[in-house]
Amino acid sequence: MRLLIADHYSDMCRKAASIIAAQITLKPKSVLGLATGSTPIGIYEQLATWCQHEDLDFSQITTVNLDEYYGLAPDNAQSYHYFMAEHLFSKVNLPKGRQFLPDGMNQDTDRECERYQNLIELLGGIDIQLLGLGHNGHIGFNEPSDAFVKDVHLVDLAEKTIEANKRFFDKAEDVPRKAYTMGIGTIFQAEKILLVVSGAEKAGILKQVMYGPISPRVPGSILQLHADVTVVADQDAAGELTSKRN
Ligand code: F6R
Repeated sequence: MRLLIADHYSDMCRKAASIIAAQITLKPKSVLGLATGSTPIGIYEQLATWCQHEDLDFSQITTVNLDEYYGLAPDNAQSYHYFMAEHLFSKVNLPKGRQFLPDGMNQDTDRECERYQNLIELLGGIDIQLLGLGHNGHIGFNEPSDAFVKDVHLVDLAEKTIEANKRFFDKAEDVPRKAYTMGIGTIFQAEKILLVVSGAEKAGILKQVMYGPISPRVPGSILQLHADVTVVADQDAAGELTSKRN
């Protein structure tokens, strides 16, 4: 795992956005795997700014998101469809027909999982997958459990995740209890992985992910086995890592 330590959140965003921009420039038809949550917001802002200044072109890009809440429609302000439209898709020249997320409204869960998994395979896999890190070590919504799940699946969200995500909802009861997520195998098929982590409250879990035992109890720890992972962490998140500053 390659580690880049950024001075602060906006420096982290700029570094991560530069890596994604390099991917887009070098391969204009890239498939980008995207994440939601607070951490990537500044990355999307930076990419949108470059695109608006015509320094970056999304016209041939395809995107696939990691996850979506089960039961939330795209026009629900808490859905990940809505998040992506608000923070990125409405601001860049990415064609609507090439923005993919799981369909949270599909109640035929086996079918939806199969559809989304097949779609990613049909696209030829992901060139670069952006990941945030949950406080419990989750990546996508692969929550701590007894085993890693390979493909796209419907997951019961962990209490810690519901607790962490309730800040986006009026009340904790409104947070959906289930979500569709790419599996660990789906994420692992990505050529490159870019993990972004910010804030002191993630310092302990980032250390476990990077240097702890590989275990489904800390799902992100599996990333130690992927051949091309770049971690961009701000100083607070990197506070418990011993490596020298880059
Ligand atoms: C989001 C996702 C999650 C988040 C993680 C961190 O699509 O899959 O794994 O990346 O929960 O969220 P933030 O960035 O809000 O701390």
